[in-house]
Amino acid sequence: MSAETADASNASTATPDQVVLVVDFGAQYAQLIARRVRELKVYSEIVPHTVSAADVAAKNPSAIVLSGGPKSVNVDGAPELDPAIYDLGVPILGICYGAQLVARQLGGTVSREDRGEYGRTVMNRIDGSSSSLLHDGIPSEQVVWMSHFDAITEAPEGFVATASTPNAPVAAFESVDRKIYAVQYHPEVGHSPHGMAVLEQFLWREAGCDPSWTMGSIIDASVAAIQAQVGDGRAICGLSGGVDSAVAAALVHKAIGHRLTCVYVDTGLMRLNESDQVVETFQKHQGMELIHVRAADEFFAKLSGISEPEAKRKTIGEHFIRVFEAASGGIDDADFLVQGTLYPDVIESGTSDAAKIKSHHNVGGLPDDLEFDLVEPLRNLFKDEVREVGSQLGLPDEIVQRQPFPGPGLGVRIIGEVTPEKVEILQHADAIVREEIAAAGLERELWQSFAVLADIKTVGVMGDERTYAHPVIIRAVTSDDAMTADWARLPYDLLERMSNRIINEVDGVNRVAYDITSKPPGTIEWE
Ligand code: XMP
Repeated sequence: MSAETADASNASTATPDQVVLVVDFGAQYAQLIARRVRELKVYSEIVPHTVSAADVAAKNPSAIVLSGGPKSVNVDGAPELDPAIYDLGVPILGICYGAQLVARQLGGTVSREDRGEYGRTVMNRIDGSSSSLLHDGIPSEQVVWMSHFDAITEAPEGFVATASTPNAPVAAFESVDRKIYAVQYHPEVGHSPHGMAVLEQFLWREAGCDPSWTMGSIIDASVAAIQAQVGDGRAICGLSGGVDSAVAAALVHKAIGHRLTCVYVDTGLMRLNESDQVVETFQKHQGMELIHVRAADEFFAKLSGISEPEAKRKTIGEHFIRVFEAASGGIDDADFLVQGTLYPDVIESGTSDAAKIKSHHNVGGLPDDLEFDLVEPLRNLFKDEVREVGSQLGLPDEIVQRQPFPGPGLGVRIIGEVTPEKVEILQHADAIVREEIAAAGLERELWQSFAVLADIKTVGVMGDERTYAHPVIIRAVTSDDAMTADWARLPYDLLERMSNRIINEVDGVNRVAYDITSKPPGTIEWE
């Protein structure tokens, strides 16, 4: 994240009254902490460690949590917190690096010991500190998850050391008067069994937060914010069939009804029956104004003779924009463009409020002179929260629980030139993979599971006949974020069922292979 505070809100994003700021010291932990706070029904936002006391005060937070981080607090250039933040009177909880930083900045001692502590560790309350507010009601001996080399050896003056472990003389310390608490362990991870109780204690009891940030309250507040932003205006939304645009559209539709027009471009490269499902869900069930553009023939014509993956992507992307532009030209009085931007995108880009940007930055190439105000109602939500909002708005599980699907669709799962015949083969093979994975109850455990069609032919025998046809490759991976992935250890009998069904039911396929490549070195998609 950049030094600038990533702003989770724009005009259409509702920000609740109570906010907990999670200060990011550069580890993977800040997002997890933010999510845990939200699980306790308190809205949280991540801010960079360079945030100033004035910025913090402007946000009027109910509490501040300092995250872990990869550095030692004792090295030159180690990230620090604006010391004036400690004097704002806002309750603070330092975690791991955050705890060491509190110790160092407020006059305690952090030393490099002979050995660190990693993993499950038994922590004991320090005798005489039984009044620890943070650990109130929690057994005096508990297992916590540690990950540190340096250790706090002395709490700052005016603070009480409340717990220790074999290699962390001060594993927790606090000053109830100053409302500052610090724990060396990670309460946000599942391996600290009492971690959520500690966070509850801090947020609900010490910081006085109400557990009132519920899905219902998010929807009500978002609807009000969208209505305030759009006023009497009109909005358009490109539906991709994916979760984010679907939920964003449903939310905006709830707020402004028929003044939202959705555009769904059927490229011909969608999965079997997917277009029908999208159109039926949004037009019939949600009653939205929907422009359904049937553009498969145009896309096949454009893709004719092209087999290089990047050239295919570029062709599909560019033509998509042309088609979207032509369709939305029919409603050119629209002032707003709805986008399904999520909070992780905001954190990663580190951008501040992007209320008015050239639309091509987000939808990949709309002409420069086409300017809309953006409506981004999901800008402060994580993916699992978006799925919950979608369910509450009545979207079916097939849409809100959908696995990620690449923008160029089956175009990057057909190796070589894309033709309507190959799309038909792949759609049927892919539908079998999806059906069997769903029947085995594995759909949500897998990040993605799909079929790929190779542009080679191999020899086989069916009945007494020699066959010469395409192989289909099944790809199923587990992943947290698509940056890395592992091939899924699917049961053999499931693989066998998929293989038998594909060969028997799909004309033009005589062999099925299973991809056992992780990422890296492979990618999830084949192109
Ligand atoms: P790879 O294949 O790079 O994919 O491991 C990582 C994730 O990104 C998706 N993906 C795409 N999504 N347009 C998209 O919108 C694309 O061109 C594209 N290529 C890959 C892929 O499905 C996986 O979730």
